Amino acid sequence: MKAYRAQLLRFDDDGQPLYDSDGLLVVGPDAQGRPVVRAAGAWQALGSRFAGVAVEDLRGCLIAPGFVDLHIHYPQTDVIGSPAEGLLPWLADYTFPHEARFADADYAAEVARFFFNELDRHGVTTALAFSTSHVASVDALMGEARARGRRLVTGKCLMDRHCPDGVRDDTEQSLIDTEDLIRRWHGVERLGYAITPRFAPSCSEPQLAGAGELAQKYPDVWIQSHVAENLDEIRWARSLFPRSSSYLAIYDDFGLMRERAIYAHCIHFDDDDRARMRATGAAAAVCPTSNLFLGSGFFDYAGANRVGFRYGLASDVGGGTSFSPFQTMLAAYQVGREGQSKAGLCLAPAQLWWQHTAGAAAALGLDGVVGNLQPGCEADFVVIDPRATPMLERKTTQADSLDELLFALIVLGDDRAIQRTVIAGR
Ligand code: GUN
Ligand code: FE
Repeated sequence: MKAYRAQLLRFDDDGQPLYDSDGLLVVGPDAQGRPVVRAAGAWQALGSRFAGVAVEDLRGCLIAPGFVDLHIHYPQTDVIGSPAEGLLPWLADYTFPHEARFADADYAAEVARFFFNELDRHGVTTALAFSTSHVASVDALMGEARARGRRLVTGKCLMDRHCPDGVRDDTEQSLIDTEDLIRRWHGVERLGYAITPRFAPSCSEPQLAGAGELAQKYPDVWIQSHVAENLDEIRWARSLFPRSSSYLAIYDDFGLMRERAIYAHCIHFDDDDRARMRATGAAAAVCPTSNLFLGSGFFDYAGANRVGFRYGLASDVGGGTSFSPFQTMLAAYQVGREGQSKAGLCLAPAQLWWQHTAGAAAALGLDGVVGNLQPGCEADFVVIDPRATPMLERKTTQADSLDELLFALIVLGDDRAIQRTVIAGR
């Protein structure tokens, strides 16, 4: 067992922050020997109970749950900052040509190492990630995550049409490969598999139907895709699947909406789409830096809250512009202020933080497992230094409340504030 004394942030079951200005986090093995949170709370209340446990004194720092990135593309690490008129030219001109390189297992392994080093530097401890259409790209990422003891969900992109040689897969083989990969990786240590139709326009009807059959056969496997991101994309999807009542409905029609299905973007929705999200238990990955960079639009927080479907935050690197959860939370705040409805929501800092930790974990069906520091949660956390830069120090020492402290970090923080990232207690 090991304990850490610091400021401590957790969340209750309703998503409200629990904060101890002088807290104690106790980490140790559970009954199966896995490192978990054994106790968390005020030093005053817990200090004497764990008197025999070595305590690392981190007073002055904030310990918080490791961040959960609900949607990120590891093969797009080098695509960050590629300008284009919009999503479809960005895919054609930069993304597809680059992703073709991931047929090479050595190249994929090198990017996987760099990718996880970046997640470490930014305090992201759980990711739902796209790989490419190449089996080798999945094996590279899964293998590296396993070596690091990381929690990771990823999958091979399904894309059998409307994309170039080098990334396009074969319908039948893509489904065989997906099932092989599920058997090879899903549930191995902290790894999970996601059935990954890239987006409806890149998938034939038989490919989507096969993906839906696998989703039914393996109900605890995740599903990830993109939807309602860009107006040209939506027109294209609707023309390819005229029988479906909306872009989102295409996925439902092929059995791809259920719990553990995560749809990136979900911008251009109507209330029928929102009700479909809620009814099926699917969740949205909100990707504000990507949506601003590609000019896609604004996630409608007010609409999502009104109808009541689940969502969490995501970087969407490399449409997204940063690995940093601080950047993503700031962009989410700005998107909330703008809003499709022009209602101008003012998202509270603790709410933004929840969307990138416990809320994102709940969207994955991993509440109580990651994204929080309640007893029993896996021991993934970040040590944040609120004095990491002169401006941060100046601002955070003036903070009179948790909201002011978190907002200072969201607006001014970057990787320099992540003093340490702890994964599975290490
Ligand atoms: N839609 C289909 N593929 C992609 C992708 O790689 N990034 C984004 N942002 N949208 C997509
Ligand atoms: Fe994406």
